[in-house]
Amino acid sequence: MPRHVFVPVFYRQTPNAQPAVDETSPDEWLEGVYSNQLLVVSPDVKSSSTIPSLMATMLEALAPVDGDRALEIGTGTGYNAALLCHRLGDSNVVSIDIAADLVNAARERLALLGYRPTLGIGDGTDGWVGGALYDRIIATCAPNRIPQTWIDQTRTGGRIVSPIATGIAVIDFDDNRQGTGHFLPGGAFFMPLRPAPRPADLGSQLADITSANATARSVELDESVWFDDAFRFIQALELPGLRFLTTLPDTGVTIFTHPDGSWARIEKGTVAQAGPQRLWDIVEAAYGQWDELGRPGRDKFRLDINPHVQQVRLDGTDATWQLPAVP
Ligand SMILES: C[S@@+](CC[C@H](N)C(=O)[O-])C[C@H]1O[C@@H](n2cnc3c(N)ncnc32)[C@H](O)[C@@H]1O
Repeated sequence: MPRHVFVPVFYRQTPNAQPAVDETSPDEWLEGVYSNQLLVVSPDVKSSSTIPSLMATMLEALAPVDGDRALEIGTGTGYNAALLCHRLGDSNVVSIDIAADLVNAARERLALLGYRPTLGIGDGTDGWVGGALYDRIIATCAPNRIPQTWIDQTRTGGRIVSPIATGIAVIDFDDNRQGTGHFLPGGAFFMPLRPAPRPADLGSQLADITSANATARSVELDESVWFDDAFRFIQALELPGLRFLTTLPDTGVTIFTHPDGSWARIEKGTVAQAGPQRLWDIVEAAYGQWDELGRPGRDKFRLDINPHVQQVRLDGTDATWQLPAVP
């Protein structure tokens, strides 16, 4: 599938993940488009073209068969929708995105290649009832839990593949719409399902954080543990929405913020914390628990879904984590 048709421009990212909005040179553009990389495709970083190998892994896990109807949440560039059309035929594919401009651009690009799936503009949290029921639902933006609408719109025996807590969940549904799922081994850092909960005003919160006189203690764990890929999974289960920020390069200050307004500031081996939750206490405790559990990777976890609860559990143990109440 030609990716360049779907990614006419991408934006370079700085180390702080800020967008570089200058258009790339033709050579760099083609090289980037045909590399196994995530490409940011909107200057406000609200959409990206997923890493091709991750898209392939997710589609393999989706395992659609001839005649299946599929819904994609997060049309973005339209590339993944084109792959679904190639496999299932246009009439069996519905793809939706919250951003009208992306959907309109994707429609034109798909048509250039002769694909005319049903495209919708709307909040993916609601699924797309017009095309239901689906045999397969694939999400390329990350909810905190599987929205009930997706479950309601999935046929008995159907499958949902979705990012959850930095992993990819593969969930099968039985006659009673109970879901049983597992996680793929690799990490998957998708953009959240919008509108994601955000701190009301990160700018003023940051000013508070850098000047605040919060209670401080010595850190027991270096903040670099946050980047341990396998640990990121448990940490995302414990603290969905946790964000990492460095203030300025070389200041040695690391800041974590949470949508509920909690923050932690780590500087020279000391952590200051404030807000409804003590973020770094939770991260350190989660790290201790993960260590005791033998540092399991994502593929050791299971996901159970019923109308009342969505729960991740570590296979062969009593350790469980409830997914948040709101998608
Ligand atoms: C990683 S991109 C999707 C990549 C896409 N599948 C492709 O092949 O290019 C994530 C997309 O999810 C969309 N999105 C975010 N929140 C959404 C929501 N609530 N409903 C529908 N789409 C959403 C974003 O606009 C963005 O285009």
